[in-house]
Amino acid sequence: MKQAVAVLSLSLLAFSNTWAYSLDEPLNVVQGEHKTTLKLGELLEKLPKQQFSVYDEAYHSEKNFEGFKLRDILKLSNVDINQVSELTIVCADGYRAVMDIDVLTKYPNAVISYRQPGAEGDFDPIVEGKKIADPAPFYLVWPEKETYGVFPWPHQVVGIDVSLNKDKYAHLTPAETASETVQRGFKLFKGACLACHSINLTGGVIGPELNIPMNITEYREVEYLKKFIRDPDSFRARSRMTGLPDLSDQDIEDAIAYLGYMKDFKQLEKAE
Ligand code: HEC
Repeated sequence: MKQAVAVLSLSLLAFSNTWAYSLDEPLNVVQGEHKTTLKLGELLEKLPKQQFSVYDEAYHSEKNFEGFKLRDILKLSNVDINQVSELTIVCADGYRAVMDIDVLTKYPNAVISYRQPGAEGDFDPIVEGKKIADPAPFYLVWPEKETYGVFPWPHQVVGIDVSLNKDKYAHLTPAETASETVQRGFKLFKGACLACHSINLTGGVIGPELNIPMNITEYREVEYLKKFIRDPDSFRARSRMTGLPDLSDQDIEDAIAYLGYMKDFKQLEKAE
């Protein structure tokens, strides 16, 4: 068996020499709609290099690694780690390893490695039974070997998907591309209206749901809405919607713009 492995790695030697990392090798960090593509050259330029040697279970031997701290990579991509709940390590073959952020909190030294100093190519091939894998372009490793039992060390890493803290208002939040009016309207609605009203059944229950199955702007005129929100009692005596005298006309228009915007984001399945 030992011999077979030796022969295999010898036969690989020929083309393993041609494996030299490319400075253009991309690593994609995706956070919601925001994608940062970092090239290896840029990482080498901007981040401190880490080097260590650790016993690697995949090779059954001690290996040297060179790379960058995962935390530094996230920082360079403007990811605020305090907001993150999970990281998904995306691999070239479609493998996606989901890491709870607690793992990175407990073991903060995770490194995205791009080469093993002293290897034949960038990395020595990993031999698993009959399969031989090249961990390039990036290999997630830790200087602490016990992390292997806590999280798989994914190889052929091409990207990192960042999931933010599960924000319960995420599906009520307008996209970044929505207008200023809609953005302001959402903030206002969240602060002044959501306590009593729901959108897609998220929110309070004192007032009516305003989006499903029909959005309020689909069955009420804007002029009526403006007047109603300004002074509910002028329509219905003892209305349980308290008037909000501090609202400016602009506030009310913003809130209505937000409500109208949400008609394209109905979660109709909830209305059933
Ligand atoms: C204290 C709870 C409360 C707050 C706060 C509140 N509402 Fe209401 N809202 C209600 C209730 C209750 C009704 C039903 C009113 C009625 O039947 O008189 C209502 C009705 C409505 C309607 C429906 C009117 C119709 O004719 O169908 C709209 C639109 C509305 N509210 C918008 C808002 C907006 C926008 C805000 C924030 C600026 C807001 N509400 C704040 C309780 C509230």
